[in-house]
Amino acid sequence: MNEIINKERMPRHVAIIMDGNGRWAKQHGMARMFGHKSGVETVHTITEHATRLGIEYLTLYAFSTENWNRPKEEVDALMSLLVDTIGKETPTLMKNNVRLMTIGGLERLPEKTRLRMEQCVNETAGNTGLNLVLALSYSSRWELTRMTQILAERVKNGELRVQDITEETISDSLTTAGIPDPDLLIRTSGELRISNFLLWQLAYAELYFTPCLWPDFTVEEFDRAIIDYQHRERRFGKTSEQVTK
Ligand code: FPP
Repeated sequence: MNEIINKERMPRHVAIIMDGNGRWAKQHGMARMFGHKSGVETVHTITEHATRLGIEYLTLYAFSTENWNRPKEEVDALMSLLVDTIGKETPTLMKNNVRLMTIGGLERLPEKTRLRMEQCVNETAGNTGLNLVLALSYSSRWELTRMTQILAERVKNGELRVQDITEETISDSLTTAGIPDPDLLIRTSGELRISNFLLWQLAYAELYFTPCLWPDFTVEEFDRAIIDYQHRERRFGKTSEQVTK
């Protein structure tokens, strides 16, 4: 690749829908879990690379609310893979000053997986480098429903007036409270969908789709997405003249 990344125009927050593990495994004549295991290696590579680039937030869609409907063996194996991966990777997260965060309905995870996650979140809480946000048992509609229930309850209890509900109140009641909105969303595997991911938060994100399957996704592919992003003009509803002034 000839072009290089402009460090002055880095996205603050990159979100990724890591798709195509199953198809990758099939291409290699292997079981689906082989694709997920290979996908974990990509997670490791991309997280280290994002750290080197100085990205502040990297959000990965690791398990959706809808993924609970997959065959039980795959769900169980994915949950074990998460436990093993977090166990193995915590020293690397510490070494690289990465803080692990989670979004989603963690109470639905098996206790062992949930506790392992919480342990790593606590252990890395003081790290000040990259914030690695794992979306687990997450879907946007689940999150928006939960937010509505939280705000309705506050109104019912007389803590909040209806006219005081603002975009900020809403953002603060989502599981992503305190996390800036993603600037760039990457989806691998050629699917051109958002799939119930961060619908509120992606309002002004730049979208980047690549046919590359997640286990094949490389540092060079990631850089290509960043460079593509850097060529876009982000107008946030304004005119081109206004933003280039
Ligand atoms: C999508 O591929 C991938 C998932 C649903 C799981 C992603 C999980 C990992 C990469 C491993 C665990 C992650 C971490 C952060 C440790 P797919 O199965 O939908 O692929 P397909 O569409 O080709 O079937």
